[in-house]
Amino acid sequence: MSSSGSGRSTQEWQRLDAAHYLHPFTDHKQLAGAGARIITHAEGVYIYTSDGQKILDGMAGLWCVAIGYGRRELAEAAYRQMLELPYYNNFFQCTTPPAIELSAVLAEVTPAQFQHVFFTSSGSEANDTLIRAIRRYWQLLDQPERNVIISRWNGYHGSTLGGASLGGMKPMHEQGGLPIPGIEHIEQPYWFENGGELSPEEYGKRAARALEDKIEALGAHRVAAFVAEPVQGAGGLIIPPATYWPEIQRICDDYGILLASDEVICGFGRTGKWFGCEYVGSRPDFMTLAKALSSGYQPIGGLMVSDRVASVLIDKGGEFFHGFTYSGHPVACAVAVANLDILRREGIVARVERDTAPTWRAAGASLPITRWWARRAVWAYSPPSSWCRKSHRGASSSRVVRSVFVCASVVRAMAW
Ligand SMILES: Cc1ncc(COP(=O)(O)O)c(C=O)c1O
Repeated sequence: MSSSGSGRSTQEWQRLDAAHYLHPFTDHKQLAGAGARIITHAEGVYIYTSDGQKILDGMAGLWCVAIGYGRRELAEAAYRQMLELPYYNNFFQCTTPPAIELSAVLAEVTPAQFQHVFFTSSGSEANDTLIRAIRRYWQLLDQPERNVIISRWNGYHGSTLGGASLGGMKPMHEQGGLPIPGIEHIEQPYWFENGGELSPEEYGKRAARALEDKIEALGAHRVAAFVAEPVQGAGGLIIPPATYWPEIQRICDDYGILLASDEVICGFGRTGKWFGCEYVGSRPDFMTLAKALSSGYQPIGGLMVSDRVASVLIDKGGEFFHGFTYSGHPVACAVAVANLDILRREGIVARVERDTAPTWRAAGASLPITRWWARRAVWAYSPPSSWCRKSHRGASSSRVVRSVFVCASVVRAMAW
């Protein structure tokens, strides 16, 4: 039986899919009626379906296929590694060459404060690791009461218990008895919805001060860290006003709390910089990574740990009781090394800033995007799930509105 889809008809695939497969973030009763779209292969920026459609993959898989489909170098890296050493664990004082190579390359491409990485298999696991590392850090500094982590309503940090708790998706919380204790949420910096009569600049500062207000309300001695995406992705592609991140950085510095940048979507060039924190000008203590780390060719994520945190964890911490069977998986690491090599060799990050951004900016300049449109488009945007609809007021969910918003958000990402 072919695994590519060519051995069965579309109807047969859909019947089997509906009979046996529980998809992520899916209403299965609805899906069984509609029938799943079967993606059989891909090349460059196009995906192909079992019934012969060719589709421009505007979402790059799930915001991850940064170098496009069909890159032989990555397949060959996986093949070579599978023959040489398909798996070995990184526990018990062992490691493998691809894990070492990848950690060294990451130390080169990430901001200067990062020399250490902990590998995971996904962004969610990276954020769970983040929670553990933050709490361990303060414990080691004899401040165990500093265990509250602040993140944002409508932020997305994954679907594990920790990741979904950090995230601010109320429908996810409601289904799972979340958040776990010690996670607090503040307003998302969404001027179109919350800005009222304020200018974007005024609102950016006001939204950031929600962090200060929350710290004051909780008691500064209890607050461990603030975690956020530089640009919110799954929550509706929300680009904060330019004044937001500098004020967030000031507050973290003033109160001495750790800052974590979730780079699972923004990392590896999406904003025209290697990392979103470089785009918004923040100086995080942690970065969580996944997606374009391997361009989605292998499941891999990681937590970058800054020197000031790593020195405490390493020098004072003893054994960190945390890890996964697939932490530093050699095939995933080998593929990620090949992916980063392509990103660097082909200058893709610089090209996003130099070529892609001006093109989008010019295209977007002609779009009639008003605050009214943007508000409704964010409401309409999003995977078929209902969470965005619940968290944004609005009306229409037509495809036109969706595409306007997607264009608008890209343009805004580049232009602001
Ligand atoms: C910002 C962000 N963080 C974390 C995650 C979770 O990553 P994963 O789906 O690999 O667990 C996602 C997934 O979309 C994300 O967008």
